[in-house]
Amino acid sequence: MKDSFDRTIDYVRIAVTDRCNLRCFYCMPSEGITYEPKAHLLSYEEITRLLKVLGKLGFQKVRFTGGEPFLRKDFMKLLENTAGLNDYKSIHITSNGTLLQKHIPKLKELGITKINLSIDSLDKERFHKITRRDDFEKVMQTFHMLVDNGFKIKLNAVIMKGINTQDIISLAELAKDHPVDVRFIEEMPFNGGYKENVEMYSARDIYTDLKAHYSELEKLPGKHGDTASLLSVPEYKGNIGIIAAFSRTFCNTCNRLRISSKGEIKSCLYDDGVFNIRDYMRSGVSDEELANKFREIVRLKPKDGFEAEKMRTSPASAMQSMSSIGG
Ligand code: GTP
Ligand code: 5AD
Ligand code: SF4
Repeated sequence: MKDSFDRTIDYVRIAVTDRCNLRCFYCMPSEGITYEPKAHLLSYEEITRLLKVLGKLGFQKVRFTGGEPFLRKDFMKLLENTAGLNDYKSIHITSNGTLLQKHIPKLKELGITKINLSIDSLDKERFHKITRRDDFEKVMQTFHMLVDNGFKIKLNAVIMKGINTQDIISLAELAKDHPVDVRFIEEMPFNGGYKENVEMYSARDIYTDLKAHYSELEKLPGKHGDTASLLSVPEYKGNIGIIAAFSRTFCNTCNRLRISSKGEIKSCLYDDGVFNIRDYMRSGVSDEELANKFREIVRLKPKDGFEAEKMRTSPASAMQSMSSIGG
């Protein structure tokens, strides 16, 4: 499907839960957020129906996010159903890596091998300070198991001034011996209201740090729809990426729609939700009506995150947690 800026929209991100077992401070306050009751969540049947409709509309890529997707009961069942649809070229997951170890064999069997893992520091203490939990060793073990099992891993690290800028090079070094993309992310103002002023460590700052360390850093040609600008270091097995999530420099190739765990559709990460598809579905509409609604939403997708911000009807969205948005 094309939007009104001639962008092909064929990638849907679905948050299966707003719950998380970590408390990364750039995402939510230490006490957590007010979680949605189960009845408010899209059921797996509803998610599968939406995916079927989107598949017919030409969507080719689906990413399951959260909160932490593996926290939701029987998440593997949803993955199995999605794999069974045969409509999607690829099924992806974004996870914090704390709960997925035991599912590695099944994921492999289903051919779901593209996983983005959040790891913001390779220092146990700093990992604890950021996530407010002690899962560093488990997450690193999972990272290595996934890599050893041939999964395509992208590692996400949100870089924050005064917190983990000293981790940039040690994290980037993971790309030396492992075929992974290590991606550094600008912090966005979606932290559930925990911290009001985001002191930006920009994509440019991150690039400057990398360039100072790696004199032979090379820019790779971008893949359509990529959030990350990729860089390579000669002889390194993996790549290094920078995601200008706050600067929003990649909106002109945006290819995505988001659906939150309670069925709120975001046509841009920075809008405050344009339509609730759960309520629409529960009102008894047909698949054709659902498809038409998606056509309309895609047509109205804003040009970029700055336009989306202007369209917000409530300032409260700036206080939303990334855990309920779905990343
Ligand atoms: P790929 O599908 O592998 O390209 O992953 P991704 O980068 O789209 O997704 P992931 O869930 O790993 O998110 C990485 C970071 O990029 C997170 O901080 C996201 O919030 C941010 N991000 C993802 N999509 C968008 C977007 O449309 N706009 C902005 N500004 N940031 C985004
Ligand atoms: N700014 C930037 N990235 C964030 N994430 C969560 N909260 C924020 C934020 N405030 C990232 C996580 C995860 C991805 C889905 O979103 O690190 O990797
Ligand atoms: Fe959980 Fe991800 Fe938010 Fe961290 S960023 S608290 S892992 S949802």
